[in-house]
Amino acid sequence: MPKIRFKVSNSLSSLKLELLRYRSVYMVFDRNVEGFASQIGRYPSFKLDAGEDNKTIETVKSICHWLLMQGADRGSVLLAVGGGITTDMAGFAACIYKRGIRYINVPTTLLSQVDAGLGGKTGVNLDSYKNMLGVICQPELTYICTAALETLPEREMRSGAAELLKTLIIGGGRHYEKAVDELSAPQTVRDLAPLIKEAARIKARVVESDPDEKGRRRVLNLGHTYAHAIEWYQHAHGVSDPYSHGEAVAIGLVQAARLSEERGICEKGLALKLEEDLRRCGLPTTLPCPEAELQEAILKDKKADGGKVNFVFIERIGKVTVKKL
Ligand SMILES: NC(=O)c1ccc[n+]([C@@H]2O[C@H](COP(=O)([O-])OP(=O)(O)OC[C@H]3O[C@@H](n4cnc5c(N)ncnc54)[C@H](O)[C@@H]3O)[C@@H](O)[C@H]2O)c1
Repeated sequence: MPKIRFKVSNSLSSLKLELLRYRSVYMVFDRNVEGFASQIGRYPSFKLDAGEDNKTIETVKSICHWLLMQGADRGSVLLAVGGGITTDMAGFAACIYKRGIRYINVPTTLLSQVDAGLGGKTGVNLDSYKNMLGVICQPELTYICTAALETLPEREMRSGAAELLKTLIIGGGRHYEKAVDELSAPQTVRDLAPLIKEAARIKARVVESDPDEKGRRRVLNLGHTYAHAIEWYQHAHGVSDPYSHGEAVAIGLVQAARLSEERGICEKGLALKLEEDLRRCGLPTTLPCPEAELQEAILKDKKADGGKVNFVFIERIGKVTVKKL
C-alpha cells in the first residue's frame, strides 16, 4: 500500500502549486465554504448542499454528469472542498467516473480534517441507511488547511474535537492531555494545527497498515458501537435536536471505558477521567436513553457481523484492543 499523502498548512499556497501538475482541475464544494473555495482558484465548480438527505446516489450521478459535460477525462483531478459529506460524495464520484479519475480532498470541518477526509472511504446513503453505497479509494492528497476552520460553527468544532481525542487515545496518547487542555480553552485555529497534524498522522498510519479494514483499521471505530446505536435511537424516535456524530462518539468513548473497566481491561477510574475530560471540552457524556433501549441497535450490528460485534476496548489512554462483545 503506498503512503497516504496529507499536508497540514495554514495557507493554500502549496495546494495551488500542487494543482499546476494536472492537465485540468474541477472542483466540488459545499456552498457554505464558497468564500474559502474561491481562494483556491477559478476552476469549473459544482456547488453542493451538504446535508445527509442530499448524500445520495442521485447527487453523485449529477456530479458525474456535470464532469462529463465539462469534458473531464483521466488526466483531470477533482477537488473536494467541504466537510465529510462533500468529500465522501465527490470522492465517490471521482472513483467511479470513467472508472476512476484522481481526486484531492480539502476538508473544511475539524471532523473531516482528522477523520473523514483521510483514508479513502467514499460513499452515499441508501434511503435512511448511512454510507451503504461506496468504495474505498485513496485521494491523491488530503490538503488540510486550518484556515478553513475560521468559519466553522462552534458545535461542529466540538464534534470534531471528539474524533480528534478518539484518535489520540488510539495512537499512543502522547498529545492527549495537551489536546484536552487546548480544546477546553478558547483557541485559535492556528493553535490546533499540531494536534490536527498528529491525529491525521495516526489515522494515516493505521489506514496504511490495513487499507481495506480487514483488521487493524477497526481500532478507528473506538466509541462508534454506542455512537451508531445512539444515532439510530435518535433517528428512530424522531428526537428533535439529536446529538451530532461527534457528540455521540464522545458518549461512546465513555461507554467503551466503562465496559473496559468492567472486564478488567483497564484500571478503574478511566471512565470517570474521560467523562471529565470530554465535559471540559463541551461534549456530552451520558446516554440519551436507558442503555437497554440501545441494545436493539447493537444487536443489529451483531447480526450483521456473524453474531458478534468487534468492540474496541481501551487498555489505557494510548492503547486500545479489539475483542468480540
Ligand atoms: N469517509 C470517512 O471515513 C468518514 C468518516 C467519518 C464521517 N464520515 C461522514 O462525514 C459526514 C459528516 O462530515 P462532517 O462532520 O465533516 O461535516 P458535514 O460535511 O456534514 O458538514 C457539517 C456542516 O458544516 C458546514 N461546513 C463545513 N465546513 C464549514 C466551514 N469551514 N465553515 C462553515 N460551515 C462549514 C456544512 O455545510 C454542514 O452544514 C457524515 O456523512 C459521515 O458519514 C465519513
